[in-house]
Amino acid sequence: MKILVTGGCGYIGSHTCVELLNNNYEVVVLDNLSNSNISVLDKIKKITGKSVKFYEGNMIDTDLLDKVFTENKIDAVIDFAAYKAVGESVEKPIEYYKNNVSTILELILAMKRHNVKKIVFSSSATVYGTPDEVPIKEDAKTGGTTNPYGTSKLFVEKILKDLYKSDNEWDIAILRYFNPIGAHESGLIGESPNGVPANLMPYVAKVAKGEFEFLRVFGNDYETNDGTGVRDYIHVVDLANGHIKALEKLTKEEKGLYIYNLGTGTGYSVLDIVKAFEKANNIKVPYKIMPRRAGDIAACYSDPTKAKEELGFVATKTLEDMCRDAWNFEKNN
Ligand code: NAD
Ligand code: UFG
Repeated sequence: MKILVTGGCGYIGSHTCVELLNNNYEVVVLDNLSNSNISVLDKIKKITGKSVKFYEGNMIDTDLLDKVFTENKIDAVIDFAAYKAVGESVEKPIEYYKNNVSTILELILAMKRHNVKKIVFSSSATVYGTPDEVPIKEDAKTGGTTNPYGTSKLFVEKILKDLYKSDNEWDIAILRYFNPIGAHESGLIGESPNGVPANLMPYVAKVAKGEFEFLRVFGNDYETNDGTGVRDYIHVVDLANGHIKALEKLTKEEKGLYIYNLGTGTGYSVLDIVKAFEKANNIKVPYKIMPRRAGDIAACYSDPTKAKEELGFVATKTLEDMCRDAWNFEKNN
């Protein structure tokens, strides 16, 4: 099978390309390199011994999309291409809606023109807003997003639901990721955000490296075990494998619109992460308690039962694996 991976040079996309190639899929990548580097393609080749076919460009470009679908007999699309920085989305809402919503409309229209009707979409636990209860099941209420990034994911989910309602020849998997961290065990690919990282694990790794003096822990007065925020961290390689399971579902079973949480089901606090990172890597991570960060919630973790029962997806990597692999990548890059 030939899979078009949009945003395939990015953090989750590159790990998914590796798992696709390891599972004998053929891979075509479309990426405009707005948040990634072309050198990732060589690293994917180094890890798998196989190449992907690459098109550089913006997913909004209909001519380019037509070229990709004409030159390649695509069976299904995995769509990662989007902007993802929560804070930036508050400052640049229109750019976020254009890049995260308008582009997928062009992708879907191109898929329609070329009669490709299978798509896996990268959504996020952010669509649950402030959850009424944890662990969160897929049928929990969505909405109440607090930033344009989160709202863009909610909009696209709605668009995909309307699309399926209009034509149930479509076969759609919406995957709601919890908190992907870690890196490929080779240390060749991983997460390298530009500038000061907004997310916890890349920041922890940079403190360990000495690039920052200490980690700012945003609040220790939440209603959690130790007062710091609790999240469902999932190893990016496990997450990548979730996409293989979703593709299998779309190919083997009857057509439908499916929604799955991809998480481990276990919540860890910020201080749990600090301790686990220190232990796994035998390195100190100094931290200071700071005020809460605006928009944060106390606890967010998944109920992963549906993905286990319907996809056979179970995250296998431990928090120790996540911390070791994140550090291994940081050290090497
Ligand atoms: P990333 O920024 O590393 O990867 C996104 C890739 O898409 C980049 O290579 C970028 O250059 C490319 N891209 C962006 N806009 C494009 C466009 N218009 N045309 C072509 N290419 C474009 O991000 P990631 O962490 O790998 O996230 C992948 C997807 O998963 C995104 O949709 C993101 O919103 C979603 N997601 C990520 C997280 C997370 O914590 N990383 C959590 C939930 C959901
Ligand atoms: N945190 C700190 N210090 C930091 C960074 C984060 O204490 O320097 C804390 C946060 O307050 C939170 C936890 O670490 O309690 C995790 O924060 P992240 O920023 O790593 O992740 P979030 O859960 O806030 O958000 C992430 C993605 C979103 C996505 C969401 C749900 O950034 O895009 O997971 O999947 F929507």
